[in-house]
Amino acid sequence: MKTRFYITTPIYYPSGNAHIGHAYCTTICDILARNKRLRGFETRFLTGTDEHGQKIKEHAAKAGKEPQPYVDEIVASFQKLWRLMEISNDDFIRTTEPRHIKVVQTMFSNMLKKGDIYLGTYKGWYCTECEAFWTDIQAGPEHLCPDCHRPVHEASEESYFFKCSKYVDELLKAYKDNPKLCFPASRMHEMVNTFIKPGLQDLSVSRTSNDWGVTVLENPKHTVYVWLDALANYLSALGYGSEKEELYKKFWEDEKTEIIHIIGADISRFHCIYWPMFLMSAGLRLPDRVFVHGLLKIKDEKMSKSKGNVVSPYPLVEKYGVDAVRYYLAREVTFGRDGEFTPEQFVERLNVDLANQLGNLLNRTVSMINKYFNGEIPAYKAGVTKFDTEIENMILGTIKQYEIHFDDLQITEGVTDAMNLVARANKYIDETAPWVLAKENELDELAAVMSHLANVLYVAAILLSPVLVHKANEILDQLNVPTSLRNYQSIQKVGVIEKFKVNKGAQLFPRLDVKAEIEYIKGLMK
Ligand code: MSP
Repeated sequence: MKTRFYITTPIYYPSGNAHIGHAYCTTICDILARNKRLRGFETRFLTGTDEHGQKIKEHAAKAGKEPQPYVDEIVASFQKLWRLMEISNDDFIRTTEPRHIKVVQTMFSNMLKKGDIYLGTYKGWYCTECEAFWTDIQAGPEHLCPDCHRPVHEASEESYFFKCSKYVDELLKAYKDNPKLCFPASRMHEMVNTFIKPGLQDLSVSRTSNDWGVTVLENPKHTVYVWLDALANYLSALGYGSEKEELYKKFWEDEKTEIIHIIGADISRFHCIYWPMFLMSAGLRLPDRVFVHGLLKIKDEKMSKSKGNVVSPYPLVEKYGVDAVRYYLAREVTFGRDGEFTPEQFVERLNVDLANQLGNLLNRTVSMINKYFNGEIPAYKAGVTKFDTEIENMILGTIKQYEIHFDDLQITEGVTDAMNLVARANKYIDETAPWVLAKENELDELAAVMSHLANVLYVAAILLSPVLVHKANEILDQLNVPTSLRNYQSIQKVGVIEKFKVNKGAQLFPRLDVKAEIEYIKGLMK
């Protein structure tokens, strides 16, 4: 049983401002990290930026800047976005930091010493955009990059190579031993069938044509290939190889830690093939999971800076609030599958789930407690109405299901569990018709309904707190839940919410005017 977690996002290229696709991946990782912390697990959450390489240098030149000041500016905008999205990362690694560069050089030197890297000449098809060399077969007759479909060009240069062949069998065995090393399974099949079975060529791991990167100490005209450089971030951020290795020992070396890399499908080859091989070469433990999530698309196209079809998260957060945007990302796009950003679905999610279901449940509950019980949540009594046992079982069942889903990285499903509980409670109001109970003076039943509703809201707020970082507390404020009960431990027992004086607050999520808001969001996408 793993009791500690190391969760990482890909480190992003600072070659343009971050869009909602980047926010998607980082927000989901944040929700996962907050979920683990909520449940009492020691958790380290890392994100950062991948700042070297020809492509960045070209972008900087186009902007009339030197690479370092150019990336500094963009990195600041990424960091600003993460603050806006309430991302709770414990560290932010930049590949231009000395602490990172040292690790890359050490790893490279060790690979050389071990004979896993040799000097040769590279001839192949190079995609500047993806910083990747491709073989004849991969580039195909039209000479296009198999990843981004842009034209590739023939390139030849002296290069160091990493001996992939040496580690292929070990990698296939690792896949067999741990199917989560590349998950979902379809991604692992893709790795095996598209890349490994046709014959994995040795990987070119240095460049002489690009100087914006980490210098190879043994041969300074070479710069370390950006992917070897970038992947090492997961270790360098833990202080691997430095005098202060405590974090590395705790969050990587120790088997009690579950190492989880979350990545987009576009970079699975690097994380599921080369990264495990580099780690094998270094004699280090492999990650427990590499989870490949889907892409957020617009009109069926991958959202990307180079295509210019991006949505900025800023105006969305400004207008609808950070919690609404976080919720949309977690709930609408099933984690692991591709999803499309549409203004219609965005507005519908906010209206249906957040305003109608969650907001309404709170509003109705607090209003009825005010009206029928002078604002005090009645004492909790079980089994008074014929629905009470079902509600109690559902509360406990939801918590279990939520844990299973989150542990399995089925994040959308975990969030849905909490929302199903909310929906069931709204139905419970209709089934028990408290206004009729009040009229008929059935006070025992009325009290039971109110306390059950308050308890459902309490549990739902705690379960949703990794997503709704502000609104969960607003729910708890309206129910007047003391700080001592605002934790995961306390929701394990049903019925702890009673006798608190409720505070009617503002509407949790205002209902949106569908037509007007869709128009507004469409305007942002132009
Ligand atoms: N720098 C490399 C990663 C190195 S990790 C050692 C890179 N950077 S990137 O900025 O181009 O993209 C990184 C990740 O951003 C993708 O893998 C994916 O997780 C996320 N996304 C970028 N565009 C996205 C969407 N349109 N939708 C969802 N996620 C997106 O590749």
